[in-house]
Amino acid sequence: MTDSTATRRTAVVTGASSGIGAATARMLAAEGFHVLCAARRADRVEALAAEIGGTAVVCDVTSEESVAALAEVVGDRLDVLVNNAGGAFGSTPVAQADSDEWRRMYEVNVIGLMQVTRALLPALVASGAGVILNVGSTAGRIAYEGGAGYTAAKHGTQVVTETLRLELWDQPVRVCEIAPGMVKTDEFALVRFEGDEEKAEAVYAGVAEPLTAEDVADAITWMVTRPPHVNIDELVLRPRAQAAQHKVHRVFE
Ligand SMILES: NC(=O)c1ccc[n+]([C@@H]2O[C@H](COP(=O)([O-])OP(=O)(O)OC[C@H]3O[C@@H](n4cnc5c(N)ncnc54)[C@H](OP(=O)(O)O)[C@@H]3O)[C@@H](O)[C@H]2O)c1
Repeated sequence: MTDSTATRRTAVVTGASSGIGAATARMLAAEGFHVLCAARRADRVEALAAEIGGTAVVCDVTSEESVAALAEVVGDRLDVLVNNAGGAFGSTPVAQADSDEWRRMYEVNVIGLMQVTRALLPALVASGAGVILNVGSTAGRIAYEGGAGYTAAKHGTQVVTETLRLELWDQPVRVCEIAPGMVKTDEFALVRFEGDEEKAEAVYAGVAEPLTAEDVADAITWMVTRPPHVNIDELVLRPRAQAAQHKVHRVFE
């Protein structure tokens, strides 16, 4: 990093090329952070980094080599890590589950999160007041039909977060999880249903106001900017229309 960025608080956001990650990168930059925008799509992270005065890092969190390269760019000191890269693939019942889809979900939501955390932890400790914010989901709190591959992975995100908090109890690093419910982002449901727009739209059908990427980014920004002795262990947020995972207020004309 350049001399001018070396003195600013620094944040890494994984999965910054779209949705919640991109919105979080923008808000943290507005708060004065130098943001390292990490994801696999180079054009997306480069455009975002240029927009917010950050640094683009092309990174696949499931690849150890790629994560090592991210750690090289981060250097010796890091204030905030937002482990946001993740997602759901498919929605088949367990009886018809696709093993490859399940592996991919575990790879990105659990192993990827672990690899990035492991690689950047020394820099977070060196800051004297680091924060790790893991993006879980209400899928990490409940079960729903057809969701087992994703819910198992996001329960993994949750329990890794709790374990890490215990293990780092004597270190100057906070460990937090945000667990959003229904968030209408451009790509999440499209990725899940392999580009099937009809299925993707059905997720949000009749819901007047699902959460937006900005709603979640706002909460993340609040969590990571509390005083260093205040740890927000977990924050669950849903749209008002979603009283529980299965109880969603939908209005059809
Ligand atoms: N939308 C929801 O309803 C919702 C609810 C609760 C929790 N969440 C969680 O919130 C996070 C963001 O979701 P979103 O709604 O913003 O979805 P999204 O727009 O699909 O964002 C997913 C991001 O993860 C990145 N990513 C995926 N695989 C990656 C990999 N191997 N290495 C690096 N980056 C990778 C993608 O970028 P590239 O493809 O460029 O790599 C993309 O930027 C996810 O962890 C998701 O599970 C979403």
